[in-house]
Amino acid sequence: MKVSVIGAGNVGATCADVIAHKDFVNEVVLLDIKENFAEGKSLDMWQTAPINLYDTRTVGATNDYSKTANSDVVVITSGLPRKPGMSRDDLIATNANIVKSVTEQVIKFSPDAVIIVVSNPLDVMTYCAYKTAKKHSSKVIGMAGILDTARYRAFLATELNCSPKDIQAVLMGGHGDTMVPLPRYTTVAGIPVTELVEEGRLNEIIHRTKVGGGEIVNLLGTSAWYAPGAAAAQMVEAIVKDSKRIFPVCALLEGEYGMNGVYLGVPAVLGKNGLEKIIELKLNDDEKALLEASSIAVKEVMDVLDNMNLF
Ligand code: NAI
Ligand code: 2OP
Repeated sequence: MKVSVIGAGNVGATCADVIAHKDFVNEVVLLDIKENFAEGKSLDMWQTAPINLYDTRTVGATNDYSKTANSDVVVITSGLPRKPGMSRDDLIATNANIVKSVTEQVIKFSPDAVIIVVSNPLDVMTYCAYKTAKKHSSKVIGMAGILDTARYRAFLATELNCSPKDIQAVLMGGHGDTMVPLPRYTTVAGIPVTELVEEGRLNEIIHRTKVGGGEIVNLLGTSAWYAPGAAAAQMVEAIVKDSKRIFPVCALLEGEYGMNGVYLGVPAVLGKNGLEKIIELKLNDDEKALLEASSIAVKEVMDVLDNMNLF
């Protein structure tokens, strides 16, 4: 099995490193436009193999897509990250051109690969890759929900002083401040979270989750990478191992949840075919309204992309 990660920056390099450590593919190719950047990082990673005891080969490339040929999964992280004061949507003009040109090269050399987009604004960049690749939407998906859910779960683990392993949660919607954490579907070792955290405090945690990306941007001056890289690697693992895990995935809705033609975070089964099934929850009216508002926010940015006339 072979995976390529485009963009050897903070998120891409972390993702490649996590995949290599987990030792479930033969080769990870890291590609960047910056001369020798991916080569240097992948060589450094390979030198951790004797210490961390794995076999995965890490290979670097400067814009040479022939090295990515016949990848089973390709993760696209190339693009600008946000700086303090910027929203994810501010990145659209630059990142749409990058994601489009990268996707063209990716599909030329790996026409059958499942593509996982990470670049922001996430939902719209996934749509951009889908429009460029002209593949079935089950093969062009985005990563955001695992990250956003992980933030929510981490905050709850801190609040309850319990293991993050015991917290299960579902979060839907776009990767922005309109994301929709769902307390009704949040449990701690099977116990509904609403029995353990009082409503006002839970709402504060939900709010912190929604602005969780911005919290890190304000601390670091650039966006997060450890959790985003690990989250993308988790999607890759589920696909490569055909494990049928259920994660929140940015997927094209074609009738699900009563929506059409919008890329949005929904619970989905991941396996060797990419996105194998979208799970439709029985949302109540409040939850439906929040999801609808999130889809409108994403759709507005999708329209900006459509009006750029790139396709
Ligand atoms: P970074 O700046 O550290 O890395 C981006 C890399 O992309 C750079 O090394 C750059 O040289 C490379 N690049 C730019 N144009 C390229 C091209 N045409 N071909 C190949 N490589 C190219 O940024 P970072 O922190 O890794 O973030 C990457 C993207 O991921 C950003 O758009 C960021 O907003 C997004 N992101 C998304 C998250 C999500 O949950 N979906 C979470 C965190 C970041
Ligand atoms: C994050 O949520 C900025 O999308 C990036 O960390």
